[in-house]
Amino acid sequence: MIKARAMLGAVREYRFLGSELWVDCGDPHMRVTFLKPELVRVRIVPGGDFEEEHSWDVPLADEAFHAVEVNLQQTQHALFLNSAAFTVRIDKDTALLEMLTTDGKSFFTDASSPVWEEDRYWFTKRIENGEKYYGFGERGGRMEKQGQTMKNWATDPSEPHTAFVDPMYMAIPVYLVMSQNFAYGVYVNSTWESTFDLSKSGQLRFESLGDELDVYIAYGPQPLDVLEHLSELLGRMPMPPKWALGYHQSRWSYGNEQEVRKLVSTFREKEIPCDVIHLDIDYMDNYKVFTWDDERFPTPQRMLEDLKRKNFRVVTIIDPGVKVDPNYAVYREGMERAYFVRDARGKICSGYVWPDESVFPDFSRSEVRDWWGDWQHGLIEQGVCGIWNDMNEPTVFEKPFSLGGGRGGTLPLKAEQGAAEEVTTHAELHNLYGSQMAQASYTGMRKSKPNERAFHLTRSGFAGIQRWSASWMGDNGSCWEHLEMSMGQLINMGISGVPFVGADIGGFFGNATPELFARWIQIGSLYPFSRGHSCTGTIAQEPWQFGEEVENIAREYLSLRYRLMPYLYSVFWKASQRGYPIWRSLFLHYPEDKQTAHIDDQVLIGRYLMAAPILKPGQTARQVYLPEGTWYDWWDGYRYEGGRYILAEAPIQRMPLYVRAGAVIPMGPAMQYVDEKPLEPLSLHLFPGDKADFTLYEDDGVSLDYERGKFATTRYQLRGDDRMAEVEIFEREGNYEIPVRSLHVILRDGRHYQQKQFVDSGNARIVQFQRMIGL
Ligand code: GLC
Repeated sequence: MIKARAMLGAVREYRFLGSELWVDCGDPHMRVTFLKPELVRVRIVPGGDFEEEHSWDVPLADEAFHAVEVNLQQTQHALFLNSAAFTVRIDKDTALLEMLTTDGKSFFTDASSPVWEEDRYWFTKRIENGEKYYGFGERGGRMEKQGQTMKNWATDPSEPHTAFVDPMYMAIPVYLVMSQNFAYGVYVNSTWESTFDLSKSGQLRFESLGDELDVYIAYGPQPLDVLEHLSELLGRMPMPPKWALGYHQSRWSYGNEQEVRKLVSTFREKEIPCDVIHLDIDYMDNYKVFTWDDERFPTPQRMLEDLKRKNFRVVTIIDPGVKVDPNYAVYREGMERAYFVRDARGKICSGYVWPDESVFPDFSRSEVRDWWGDWQHGLIEQGVCGIWNDMNEPTVFEKPFSLGGGRGGTLPLKAEQGAAEEVTTHAELHNLYGSQMAQASYTGMRKSKPNERAFHLTRSGFAGIQRWSASWMGDNGSCWEHLEMSMGQLINMGISGVPFVGADIGGFFGNATPELFARWIQIGSLYPFSRGHSCTGTIAQEPWQFGEEVENIAREYLSLRYRLMPYLYSVFWKASQRGYPIWRSLFLHYPEDKQTAHIDDQVLIGRYLMAAPILKPGQTARQVYLPEGTWYDWWDGYRYEGGRYILAEAPIQRMPLYVRAGAVIPMGPAMQYVDEKPLEPLSLHLFPGDKADFTLYEDDGVSLDYERGKFATTRYQLRGDDRMAEVEIFEREGNYEIPVRSLHVILRDGRHYQQKQFVDSGNARIVQFQRMIGL
């Protein structure tokens, strides 16, 4: 640990080792390493004592990247390390850093020297004119973050979520900057408590506990390129089981077996699509994890089998707090094996959670993760299909839950964690607790069912959480403000690397009105992770609880989600391959269009579909920004020229939804659950007017065979002009067998539909249409 104050001095000496430059700049030493031409790592530490690798490191190790060619140049004043994509300039007098694009534009430039003082360090970067800041993990407030101060410290906020709520459950020190005509992204590799401060105009300040400054900078120039590089570094989402893309229904709590059986039959009777039911804490015996309450759920295995037969999967909640109870095997075993977190004096840390006095597994140790996975095995064997980890910041109540709980805190910061050879404090690993628990649970599921994909949901997590889990935005409320807030939140989570995200549809605390629920399910049916959930003591919030009109709306929008499944699943595949978000802010695809910089009440789902939900009560029309190009109204085909605002009609049944001209959207039949029916027919909706290129991805949706190449892709290319439109269907590739099926190619040319039908056996073909513009 650093005692005195340290700062950068002049460059005294340097060594160039191929793709890495070592610089001695006074007391601190710096290492600049290009991992890819577009990705550089900069580490600076006083005394030059760089940290060893830890088992918990999130970024891919430097060695995992191929050597990159960089060259070193120097002038009288500076060292220049050039990759093919950008340059790092180190000033010889001050050792300050500047990044330069190939056409000489500065970015991520030191405003002053970093400073190390006592147990912390900070650095300041210049905010260049016109730059916009996004990402930063899970936050309240608007999408663009200048003006905000954001702490990275996984926390269950004691106050209701507002624009100022900070910190929240996730800690993800990742951000994306849109500069003049390029984008770059940053990951700061600190698991310690840290803060991004953008409150001072023209400057970003990052402060963290710890002593090694370790940052990764990814250059675009396109924003999606940045996300691709950062996700290569921090990991990508594996393909989830396809059923997890269906609708999930939750409540704290469906309290007994009868209630759950009634719930699933109501979904089917009412023909509202649904795939997953979540069981919240009351399924357990006295909140003891890995148990069932045998009065309320006397025959879990039979119930789970029956539900599975009706094509419902069940996800159970598992919290980290293990009830202190000598008669409880999980507690006893964990104690015997010394798996629970201890304080600095070696005493087990206990605290209050649902089961009152609880202890907390140290998930940073691999043997503890394995043990946890083994306990989970029982649930999976009984037929549980997914695990939902909650309270894993971890949150520890002030008082017993039976006495109201009080405010949430966490484990003592000096508590010890980590394997013997790398013991550290909770302060260093706190932000990773949720991720490591998710890792334990996810890997446990993979071990229990070696050839099945696992579905995991988490409330807390650190950068890289997408490797293990989907996540939701915690305890929002049934209010319009939170419906609106979910938009920017989910968009920024995607930018921070976490694509499979959602917020509780209808709101968790409080009671939704019919109108709020209708508006929420309209956009919620297009959330990447689509789940309705609500708190104990609130009114019932299933889709049919608000009268017939709202029920019809829920049915229509959820059915649309299921019809869009071939498109959505392919967008998920892109996320798993490239790290592209599923929910995309407009600026990701229209970076030159400055209007898009602050739009967080509209969203692109994949490249082509744009939703503009109603986020205010009583509204039956709203302003919608259509970026440059031509757009079609999804519902009535009306054609608009973009690059302007329009007023969209939005009576309660309608959420404005658009498709860009130049889109191919594969759709399937309506279904009650994912893969209820084969894609018969597969409908290819073409929206002519510009070029489009889309790849349909298909696999069995459940196994890991896709990792061994068992999947099929079909590429579609749309082109044409005012008179004709043509789609080239390339020969299907890959070795996942798809039965011969009908293919409906539908040209949605404004209000005119034309359709051609084929038998599709995966062969290449070109389909042409005469357009009828103006008719
Ligand atoms: C937490 C979760 C919430 C859950 C509740 C009871 O508040 O965020 O989703 O319903 O705990 O388990």
